[in-house]
Amino acid sequence: MASRGRRPELQGPPELYYDKNEARKYVRNSRMIDVQIKMTGRALELLCVPEDKPCYVLDIGCGTGLSGDYLSDEGHYWVGIDISPAMLDEALDRETQGDVILGDMGQGIPFKPGTFDACISISAVQWLCNANKKSDIPARRLYCFFSSLYSVLVRGGRAVLQLYPENSEQLELITTQATRAGFTGGVVVDYPNSAKAKKFYLCLFSGPSASLPEGLSEDTEEEKPAESTFTAGRIPYRIARRGVVRKSREWVLEKKARRRRQGKEVRPDTQYTGRKRKPRF
Ligand SMILES: C[S@@+](CC[C@H](N)C(=O)[O-])C[C@H]1O[C@@H](n2cnc3c(N)ncnc32)[C@H](O)[C@@H]1O
Repeated sequence: MASRGRRPELQGPPELYYDKNEARKYVRNSRMIDVQIKMTGRALELLCVPEDKPCYVLDIGCGTGLSGDYLSDEGHYWVGIDISPAMLDEALDRETQGDVILGDMGQGIPFKPGTFDACISISAVQWLCNANKKSDIPARRLYCFFSSLYSVLVRGGRAVLQLYPENSEQLELITTQATRAGFTGGVVVDYPNSAKAKKFYLCLFSGPSASLPEGLSEDTEEEKPAESTFTAGRIPYRIARRGVVRKSREWVLEKKARRRRQGKEVRPDTQYTGRKRKPRF
């Protein structure tokens, strides 16, 4: 379950690991941007929020706001919380559309009950499993996080948290605390047989238990290994999304494919799909 190399969570507190240098990589390294955007897209797909209705989404461990940009691009409003001032500085510099606040999720989510329709988190929650000082008790911090998350979601709201558990015990610790806080749901594993592409998404429901979406498998599109590239400047978000322009044919086809994967009824693709309509008078 553990990823290759020394895990960042073992190298000290997140606010020190995600320093200026690390934050810069998030906005300049095309591979890192690509990974964040793909995982955010998948998290949004698993959330199953209505596509034609904007939602108010909380992004936990929002970092530089790349995930938030994806949410904005899909027509949602968002607020992010993160423990790293350096990551948030990048988000502010990039003038992301969402509001960001500095905070430690392990101390609870500081919003009024029922504020958010949904929540996402990308590669953040496993940080709560490590104690960085004597007073840090992972189970307690996880419970504090999940119970406050339960409260800030509307009844029936969902959270999809992509995470990198170190081992099955850690995953169990996380899911146990989520259940104790009142959530139902479970873990969706994409590409379970691929060491490189395997991803865990903890899907939580704050209302009655719902059916869990299926994980992706090797039969579906596999992630291709890509080289890291650095540029002198920041990579505009649209380029990072490989130039997929909103309302373009490619954008419409992507959206239709996603709805099909969600089991929704979608009209077949034709030569007219995504074609610009003539203006009406
Ligand atoms: C992989 S980064 C997420 C990047 C983000 N999706 C983006 O678009 O830039 C994980 C983030 O989790 C944050 N994090 C880790 N532990 C946290 C905690 N206890 N409370 C809040 N944020 C935390 C880190 O500071 C880091 O920015």
